[in-house]
Amino acid sequence: MPEMSRAAAAVWSDADFVTAWLDADPQGERDLLALPRLMAARIVAETTPRPQLIVDVAGGAGKFLGVMLDAFPAARGVWLDASPTMLDRARIDLARFGPRVSFTVGDMTELRAAGVPGGADVIVTSRASHHLDRTELHGFYREAAGLTAPGGWLVNLDHIGPAEVWDTRYRSVRKQFGAYRPSAPSHHHNYPLPSVDDHLDGLRAAGADELDIAWKAFYTCLFMGRLPQG
Ligand SMILES: C[S@@+](CC[C@H](N)C(=O)[O-])C[C@H]1O[C@@H](n2cnc3c(N)ncnc32)[C@H](O)[C@@H]1O
Repeated sequence: MPEMSRAAAAVWSDADFVTAWLDADPQGERDLLALPRLMAARIVAETTPRPQLIVDVAGGAGKFLGVMLDAFPAARGVWLDASPTMLDRARIDLARFGPRVSFTVGDMTELRAAGVPGGADVIVTSRASHHLDRTELHGFYREAAGLTAPGGWLVNLDHIGPAEVWDTRYRSVRKQFGAYRPSAPSHHHNYPLPSVDDHLDGLRAAGADELDIAWKAFYTCLFMGRLPQG
């Protein structure tokens, strides 16, 4: 496991930290990321109305996978995360999907070794890849693309590191929006986080040829890339 990935995964093995983080994570109407998750599902449906296999990498409690499996009732899901505490929570929160979901504990930089099957129609990940450096991020996209079917999607909803001038603006303005949560337990990040270009370059290098930032608010972007149909 690469060093930055190991350091990121370590904090999520602390059950008290994970429980506090989950308790502070906005739910329902306060969850600003509900929109980009749903947008991702609807955009995928435009090209791929009946995906069979959807993988959620670093899936946490399974919010993104839950939205995808609701949108695509014929799909089965694979959940992967490094945290045993998240596994316990995901088993509860995704229980309504029954045998449609399989669970794998493993590292996001070693998807094959963790047993993620090939031929996925969609691989999603959210709020995790910002722990990787540019090289690791590109490696992640490369491996994920290798596990994705022709015409399939790579979807990443994550926080980016903007240019300094934008960082200052965002920091000041987002305080005015109540939905941000200073109460959330903080954890270590290696700044600067990967930039928009780090993501787009990585997706492009992994072979995605239909790329866009489908949604963005402050630091958080919904990156979507589709692989060629072969
Ligand atoms: C901020 S949470 C986000 C969870 C979920 N994706 C979401 O958006 O609700 C970050 C997740 O990434 C997982 N994680 C961090 N580093 C990881 C790694 N190297 N491999 C796999 N999972 C990792 C953590 O265990 C945690 O569940």
